[in-house]
Amino acid sequence: MTKVFNKISDWQKEREKIGTNKTLGFVPTMGALHEGHFSLMEKSVKENDFTIVSIYVNPTQFNNKEDYENYPDTFEDDLGALEKLNADYCFFPSYEEMYRDNYKYKVSESELSNKLCGAHRTGHFDGVLTIVMKLLNIVNADKAYFGEKDYQQYLLIKGMAEAFFMRTEIIPLPTIRSEEGLALSSRNKRLTEDELVKALEFPKLLKSELNDDQIKEELSSKGFVVDYVESIENRRFGAVHLGKVRLIDNVKI
Ligand code: PAF
Repeated sequence: MTKVFNKISDWQKEREKIGTNKTLGFVPTMGALHEGHFSLMEKSVKENDFTIVSIYVNPTQFNNKEDYENYPDTFEDDLGALEKLNADYCFFPSYEEMYRDNYKYKVSESELSNKLCGAHRTGHFDGVLTIVMKLLNIVNADKAYFGEKDYQQYLLIKGMAEAFFMRTEIIPLPTIRSEEGLALSSRNKRLTEDELVKALEFPKLLKSELNDDQIKEELSSKGFVVDYVESIENRRFGAVHLGKVRLIDNVKI
């Protein structure tokens, strides 16, 4: 049975009991869990003696109030999935617990965080890095697992863990896609049926032989509002708006 902790101090007592001879894997999430999260949880359960999953919709990483307010809340189902996948612990804190300083202190990065999604979502990565730093410090895991769908987020978190000599190893795992190729995301739940079909064009075009500008044009002509399509080294990154939903993806090229 998955044990739920709301208070940092209660979790810390349990963490002490686990000790240092057994390994602890950590999967941070904002809930609304899907196959992408399940693949991270399965890997953690396989690689570690114990697994903890956090469920916390972090307000400081939302630059858009509507997006935050409409973020799906499926806690009961999420907990059911944790039980099914044999996650030992769930950390489910409140804002008051996580932001005792009311976000007076934050973690920032000054280069990569200003590019791609960072250029379009002011303060987003400050919010992500700050909450992940807090979670990593609280959970005190051996390994933490992140999906490559948020590849920029993964790179920034890995860089932060190195820069601050954090003990947790940051592990990336491949993006999980629907059969038709759409990267799974909690926000897909908010796409209409028509939009779900149209969304398939996005990964298809990112993987195509067209160059970044041509892909942007194609996407715009199909009704997407494009934030960016940009190739960096051997990866092409993209972010688009479709109806009320913002989709991001990246592919190796
Ligand atoms: O990728 C996410 O779901 C979030 O950005 C994370 C890492 C849980 C931090 O809130």
